[in-house]
Amino acid sequence: MKARFITLEGSEGAGKSSAMKTITETLDGWGISYITTREPGGEPTAEKMRDLLLYSDHLDAHTELLLMFASRNEHVVKVIRPALAAGQWVVSDRFVDASFAYQGGGRGVDNETLSFLERMTVGDTQPDLTLYLDVTPEVGLERAANRSEKDRIEKEQLAFFEAIQSAYQDRARNHPHRIKTIDANQGIDQVASQIKHVMQKFKEEHDE
Ligand code: TMP
Repeated sequence: MKARFITLEGSEGAGKSSAMKTITETLDGWGISYITTREPGGEPTAEKMRDLLLYSDHLDAHTELLLMFASRNEHVVKVIRPALAAGQWVVSDRFVDASFAYQGGGRGVDNETLSFLERMTVGDTQPDLTLYLDVTPEVGLERAANRSEKDRIEKEQLAFFEAIQSAYQDRARNHPHRIKTIDANQGIDQVASQIKHVMQKFKEEHDE
């Protein structure tokens, strides 16, 4: 089977860590060679930008936007494309849909600007499958509240996360073949079984 690019998306407290485990266990079960990575970050320079993004005291929305895409560019060029070219699957904890949700929905950056930056940095390196963990902000923030120190973005208020959810949902509606919505308000086991189901279907559709 050709190397595939899978991304995982969701708002705060959606359960991405457990979902990542389910995805990698499924790939292990299929005997597939893959790498896992994350955004912002995924390679040393992009990880430095992640630090700036998450732990600067204040960032203008445009600086945040450009740093997200600058780090993505390094990640795509140095990690994602080479891995796929070498026949390895890539599983990324967040990718460009997060920019449409957070910088678009959350910060109000227009779609035209986002699409321009997407063409410049992502180009044809689009995910083959995106698992979107859809959690209502109240449930997600309650789960995230139990975690330790919050980063700059996690400190935002409910309305910000409502805008993010709605932008993710729009994106899922506009890309129904690629983005599969998982009901992440459910418990850990039900979420895992939804993910396994989606991945099994994906495999059946793409087996060559
Ligand atoms: P995470 O470790 O929770 O995924 O932290 C990454 C944070 O960065 C999260 O709050 C979402 C945010 N983010 C954006 O705002 N835009 C993006 O394009 C990406 C990839 C992440």
